[in-house]
Amino acid sequence: MRVFRKLVCAGVCLRLNKHTGGVRSFSTCPRLQAVMQAWVIDHYGDNSVFRFTKNAAFPSILYPNEVIVQVHAAALNPLDVNMRGGYGAATMAMKRDPLNINKSGSEFPLILGRDVSGVIMECGLDVAYFKPGDQVWAAIPPWKQGSLSEFVVLSANEVSHKPKSLSHTDAVSIPYVAATAWSALVNTASLNKDNCSKKRILILGGSGGVGTFAIQLLKSWGGHVTVTCSQNAEGLVRSLGADDVVDYSSGSVERKLSAKDKFDVVLDNVGGETEKWASALLRPWSGAKYVTLVTPFLRNTDRLGLADGMMQNFVTIATKAVKHLRTGVHYRWGFFSPSGSALDDVSEMVDAGKIRPVVEKTFSFSQVPQAMEKVEQGHARGKIVVTVVEAQDE
Ligand SMILES: NC(=O)c1ccc[n+]([C@@H]2O[C@H](COP(=O)([O-])OP(=O)(O)OC[C@H]3O[C@@H](n4cnc5c(N)ncnc54)[C@H](OP(=O)(O)O)[C@@H]3O)[C@@H](O)[C@H]2O)c1
Repeated sequence: MRVFRKLVCAGVCLRLNKHTGGVRSFSTCPRLQAVMQAWVIDHYGDNSVFRFTKNAAFPSILYPNEVIVQVHAAALNPLDVNMRGGYGAATMAMKRDPLNINKSGSEFPLILGRDVSGVIMECGLDVAYFKPGDQVWAAIPPWKQGSLSEFVVLSANEVSHKPKSLSHTDAVSIPYVAATAWSALVNTASLNKDNCSKKRILILGGSGGVGTFAIQLLKSWGGHVTVTCSQNAEGLVRSLGADDVVDYSSGSVERKLSAKDKFDVVLDNVGGETEKWASALLRPWSGAKYVTLVTPFLRNTDRLGLADGMMQNFVTIATKAVKHLRTGVHYRWGFFSPSGSALDDVSEMVDAGKIRPVVEKTFSFSQVPQAMEKVEQGHARGKIVVTVVEAQDE
């Protein structure tokens, strides 16, 4: 099934009529409406920049491998708070599809929200893996319009059938953190279901979105998982399967962790001070890896532009990698990477009861600013979810 999916979705992104300014429709359905409801921002700033509108532009299928999803539920991530304030703006501007920004060349009105669970409404002509009516979920790349809206357009490669066992409200808590943890642990740290059973993994920051997913993924693959979190999150992370829990909020967490056996992988969801000592916890000269999700990547490209920023990123990571290699461990940056096929695997694990959603609080669509405020307050215990279609027929 997945091989077939890759063949049909690996599709070519043709952009017809680009030079004439016209856009040819690749949709299989006639357009029924021209506008939709959405929470947009018209400039960067604090929470007051959110504006609710009933007249946001309805998304269009511009490439034959795209789908339009009716959003039933969305979820928020720390990235949304950062992007609301302008984080990544210069870099995303370079990644954004010229056909998807307005005539003035501006990204505004911008729609945030990186997780979607909903129903396929329209399919591009090359899409064979999905059909209208399919229940799907996806993690939306940050250079695309987000899910705090009634509809969103995505590449079919980014979309996956949602777990049958979950409602949209529960399912939506998973895609972005799953795609990030998968990218960091599988693609960067080279962990998988076949090699995890003898591995000791340390997750720094286990009680938030990425942490609560990563614990469950690694435990389902048989890894030994140690987690740092606040004392009051111990019950949560243990309920997800963490073998060993270290309270970072009292005493030296570095000293407590140093007293334990060495680790094969450290996933760092905290950053800052942790980077100074965490790689010393790894088993040297064994291929052990420190992977951090807290990187200066976007800040550098925002500040210096793409060319100089990438050069700065290359110098920074090369310097750190060489320094760590001298001590016998690998240093890596981990990144979110959209992947429908990774979500297919996660969907199966959810339906098999190996991974469960961790939803801290659900807000209605009218409460998006309050939901964002909650994320901004920090101290997450799983995810903040926004229900877009209230009466879900699931
Ligand atoms: N590179 C990428 O592509 C990428 C993708 C996704 C996320 N990220 C980054 O990864 C980080 C984690 O993301 P997330 O979505 O999991 O964030 P989150 O949901 O906000 O969770 C962060 C968790 O860390 C805990 N925490 C804070 N300080 C800690 C410390 N010193 N030690 C242990 N735990 C601590 C927080 O709870 P308490 O404060 O109550 O302890 C909270 O539960 C964020 O910085 C995010 O920006 C990067």
